[in-house]
Amino acid sequence: MRLADKNAIVTGGAGGIGRATALAFAAEGARVAVVDLRADAADAVAAEIRANGGSAIAVAADVSSEADIQRVIATTLAEFGGVDVVFNNAGIIRRTTAVETTAEEWDLVFGVNVKSIFLMCKHIVPVMAAAGGGSIVNTGSGWGLKGGGQAISYCASKGAVLNMTRALAIDHGPQGIRVNSVNPGDVNTGMLLEEARQLDQDAQAFLAESADRPLGRMGEPNEIAAAVVWLASDESSYVTGSALVVDGGGIA
Ligand SMILES: NC(=O)c1ccc[n+]([C@@H]2O[C@H](COP(=O)([O-])OP(=O)(O)OC[C@H]3O[C@@H](n4cnc5c(N)ncnc54)[C@H](O)[C@@H]3O)[C@@H](O)[C@H]2O)c1
Repeated sequence: MRLADKNAIVTGGAGGIGRATALAFAAEGARVAVVDLRADAADAVAAEIRANGGSAIAVAADVSSEADIQRVIATTLAEFGGVDVVFNNAGIIRRTTAVETTAEEWDLVFGVNVKSIFLMCKHIVPVMAAAGGGSIVNTGSGWGLKGGGQAISYCASKGAVLNMTRALAIDHGPQGIRVNSVNPGDVNTGMLLEEARQLDQDAQAFLAESADRPLGRMGEPNEIAAAVVWLASDESSYVTGSALVVDGGGIA
């Protein structure tokens, strides 16, 4: 197993890509702290892991809160005794142009998508460094590389994730900490349905548009999880600061 005896934190672990990755981490032998704003759904994922024979806890938290991030780390350390892997994955989207976006919405998106990663790294890097290293994976987006329409705060936030990942890799590589981003294209999760709702579009038609790429379909959460497992594991031991694109060819 590729993550045997590793302890992992997965944010946004109650749904979509985070849930699939929490399950995949556990299947590879990791103990997993499932972190999400939605307590019941996080509990359900942790229970599913335990039912499969794995080890997991659920921690209800808002990742944009420094106090919550510190509590997540303290709880995980108390339960597991260390943290080797962090998947900073919680994210939200607002499908609006700059003109339509309020300053409050901008701050909300940056709080969840960007500040959360800064806060997690601020507090987890000393823990990992003291243990000799670790692997941090941040969820960016294809739109963090190429931009996209009617999502100004989201595109800006995911661009920030991409470059923050590089800066973290430069700062903390000498401490044995690798930091990479995974950048999905359209993936079959609740976020796409939420986008259709915000844009007042038919959900099925919106999902169908996601197939317009070389591989002819949208991605499934387990296909992103497979990439994250690799970045989390020692198989990617010489990879840091990279932006791994998993999008069925949509960026090209
Ligand atoms: N689905 C896609 O097409 C797609 C494409 C590119 C990038 N992404 C990114 O993938 C990541 C996961 O999204 P998903 O598609 O699985 O969507 P999702 O909505 O299914 O999952 C996001 C999870 O984050 C949680 N969350 C939201 N705000 C939070 C907060 N403040 N604190 C803690 N948890 C919070 C939600 O409760 C949810 O469980 C996000 O960062 C998203 O931007 C998704």
